Amino acid sequence: MIAVAVELGERSYDVLVGDGVRHSLATVVPQQAARVAVVTQSSVGVEVDPGREHRVFTIGDGEPAKSLATVEGLCREFTRWGLTRGDAVVAVGGGLVTDTAGFAAAVYLRGIPVVHVATTLLAQIDAAIGGKTGVNLPEGKNLVGAFWQPAAVLCDTELLATLPPRELRSGFGELAKYHFLVPAPVGAASLDELPLDEQVAACVAIKAAVVGADEREGGGRAVLNYGHTLGHALEVAGDFDLRHGEAVAVGLVFAAELAHRLGRIDAARVAEHRRVVAMYDLPSHLPANADAAELVALMGRDKKAIRGLTFVLDGPEGLEPVTGVDRTAIDDALEAVR
Ligand SMILES: NC(=O)c1ccc[n+]([C@@H]2O[C@H](COP(=O)([O-])OP(=O)(O)OC[C@H]3O[C@@H](n4cnc5c(N)ncnc54)[C@H](O)[C@@H]3O)[C@@H](O)[C@H]2O)c1
Ligand SMILES: [Zn+2]
Repeated sequence: MIAVAVELGERSYDVLVGDGVRHSLATVVPQQAARVAVVTQSSVGVEVDPGREHRVFTIGDGEPAKSLATVEGLCREFTRWGLTRGDAVVAVGGGLVTDTAGFAAAVYLRGIPVVHVATTLLAQIDAAIGGKTGVNLPEGKNLVGAFWQPAAVLCDTELLATLPPRELRSGFGELAKYHFLVPAPVGAASLDELPLDEQVAACVAIKAAVVGADEREGGGRAVLNYGHTLGHALEVAGDFDLRHGEAVAVGLVFAAELAHRLGRIDAARVAEHRRVVAMYDLPSHLPANADAAELVALMGRDKKAIRGLTFVLDGPEGLEPVTGVDRTAIDDALEAVR
């Protein structure tokens, strides 16, 4: 078992990573909690033992279930059961469950403790770490939410064995991103050479460091969006049937090609992006029918774009947001991922 600390002053917590860490749940649920509301989906199929009186609340599958209606339903059921401020919520699932149950915990009785048992690769290395919780509106994704740090996170790598292959691959797209978030220490193994639990722990440590330095997205957290500007555009445009991580993978290669055209990185660094993406069996090309003009328009609407087209780009100083990027360079970089 690997323990990674997320340092946030009095809101600091541990993330435990490894095969079977779900069995440590009883020890990480806050001591004073007499009751635990376990929130999960039937398709997750993971049983946990919080070590005290508990009840399982099942929410639906798919993005439409990540809604205020689901949060209201949970809060009403918590009330009817008599869950108090001293009790706790345990979310057992992927990012959909940790986002929704985390938000319910943030607002129920103005906030009760939550522990995440992350069961997808994406949730283990991203969604469950960092305290962002929330739900969708019909108008768009993640538009209502709160920062609500968990009391602990358990990343049980044993559970990844039952993930549908496509979900696992999508998680690897997010994992590929972490290769470029910090410079590899000289002589250290590349992320992809490590066993899976160590890869997960390394990603958690990187995200923990970024979140610790910028809990509420003042700016530093922007690097976590590496590869996501084109990635998000691809997810919204057309019906490409791309999972989040697959779209991010194409976005990573695009970002490298763009940084290269702006003279920020050399061809070898672009090749490293392509190697990592290929190594996780992820796509590095736009879907065949993708329309460049539409993608550029969508990228301009990325909610993280403050003024004009902004991209997180690699460079001599590492990743940083670059504003006012030249349109010709963007078009050329899109051609390079055709
Ligand atoms: N809060 C954040 O910082 C953050 C970051 C990234 C993504 N997210 C959110 O996370 C969500 C996506 O999360 P996801 O990719 O984990 O998808 P998901 O939670 O929808 O899970 C995908 C599918 O896998 C199933 N599943 C989960 N664990 C399983 C297991 N161990 N075995 C078999 N099946 C299992 C789920 O029931 C679901 O059907 C999105 O809503 C996204 O907005 C949040
Ligand atoms: Zn992502």
